[in-house]
Amino acid sequence: MPGGTGGPGEPPAPVAAADARAGAQPHFASPDVCFHESWLEALREYHDEGRHDQLDEDILEDRDEFGRYCAAVNAGVERPGQPDFYLAELHGTPLGEWVDGYVPQTVLWWVAGDEYLGRLSLRHWLTPHLLYFGGNIGFEVRPSARRRGRATAMLAAALPLAADLGIDPARVDCEADNAASRLVIERNGGVFAEERDGSLYFWVPTG
Ligand SMILES: CC(C)(COP(=O)(O)OP(=O)(O)OC[C@H]1O[C@@H](n2cnc3c(N)ncnc32)[C@H](O)[C@@H]1OP(=O)(O)O)[C@@H](O)C(=O)NCCC(=O)NCCS
Repeated sequence: MPGGTGGPGEPPAPVAAADARAGAQPHFASPDVCFHESWLEALREYHDEGRHDQLDEDILEDRDEFGRYCAAVNAGVERPGQPDFYLAELHGTPLGEWVDGYVPQTVLWWVAGDEYLGRLSLRHWLTPHLLYFGGNIGFEVRPSARRRGRATAMLAAALPLAADLGIDPARVDCEADNAASRLVIERNGGVFAEERDGSLYFWVPTG
């Protein structure tokens, strides 16, 4: 996952209208059409920093398509419009024959009221590929909601969920120059495991 957080000394982002409206206590929610407007705002922010180019704003502005996207994400599929193949793989193939990299994934959005603030992906077990590309948990906070403790709180809230899935410790990685992500991981008890090809790998106790 690319970093793109800017370097140390970067000033906090101005408070976004979305963040200011988000008066309610942040919590996890499953992807749902009720977050459509706010999610689209966030997608434009991600696009401005070069993330999620595979998600087409023009297509996902359509509420029905966005509903299909949410359903696909909830089924463990990241790309809209391509769930069938994936689901056939997911449900039709004995676990022992799964292609490396396909594991069940729970995607949760960090929300307040109807405002989307960020996303966390929880991969239920590791494969040799995931060990070095993604780990058990990946997360992001929309640019206008950053530097307010959102990611730290979101990862903390995910650890008991990971424990419930039998994940302990959780593998979490970040790019070596991603100071914010490293802080988030370490503040949640992450123990440095190794550095490889510009990435840092941690084990985070969940219990
Ligand atoms: C990394 C990311 C999730 C951090 O989200 P966030 O909500 O801003 O994180 P927090 O507010 O919990 O910040 C944690 C710490 O990092 C610091 N921090 C945040 N952004 C920073 C930056 N650009 N440079 C240096 N430190 C930063 C915060 O100040 C905080 O430290 P503090 O408590 O001493 O102030 C967010 O920047 C992001 O989504 N980046 C792009 C995707 C990504 O890198 N995901 C992580 C991959 S595992």
